[in-house]
Amino acid sequence: MMTSVGEPELQVSTDGVVTLKPPRPGDAERLVEGRDEEFFRWLGPGAETPRPVACVWVGEELVGWVDYDVEHDWLRPGEVNVGYYLFPAAREKGYASRAVELLLQHLSRETEHTVATLVIDRENVRSLRLAHRLGFVKRGGVEKGLFFAREV
Ligand SMILES: CC(C)(COP(=O)(O)OP(=O)(O)OC[C@H]1O[C@@H](n2cnc3c(N)ncnc32)[C@H](O)[C@@H]1OP(=O)(O)O)[C@@H](O)C(=O)NCCC(=O)NCCS
Repeated sequence: MMTSVGEPELQVSTDGVVTLKPPRPGDAERLVEGRDEEFFRWLGPGAETPRPVACVWVGEELVGWVDYDVEHDWLRPGEVNVGYYLFPAAREKGYASRAVELLLQHLSRETEHTVATLVIDRENVRSLRLAHRLGFVKRGGVEKGLFFAREV
């Protein structure tokens, strides 16, 4: 995924534990270095120079990214598709859920988008748990997996 042309730049935002910041020079390399087999399994080959909407920070540590895009013909008006990735050492601490909530707040406050969608492989248990935790509702199956939606 990639920041879409015309989308407003994300302002730094925090819930006191996790902070979202727009990518800075040098972050792309660190995001590439932080990829593991889960990345390639669930997210595909990945961009050479990733530019997600937000990098996820916990204190002084970069721990992953969250992103959205609007470039899919299956999205309805007002919908965006959301993606997320945490470095392995940062998982299972609640950071991804917090980061996605902050991204939804950004969408709600700074953009006209109203609905966030997720496409999750049926075997991606951790991502399915996150979707349920955040109140995403299953809308059905698509070729690539299960399709979820939630108002931002
Ligand atoms: C998907 C992904 C981001 C989910 O990460 P995660 O660590 O499971 O999610 P969170 O960071 O929100 O952590 C929640 C987990 O931490 C646990 N946890 C432990 N301590 C916690 C705390 N202090 N606060 C909150 N949760 C805590 C929760 O119980 C929960 O575990 P559970 O689902 O077994 O109940 C991560 O697995 C990943 O990067 N996967 C590869 C990329 C990917 O699949 N992307 C999505 C493609 S659709």
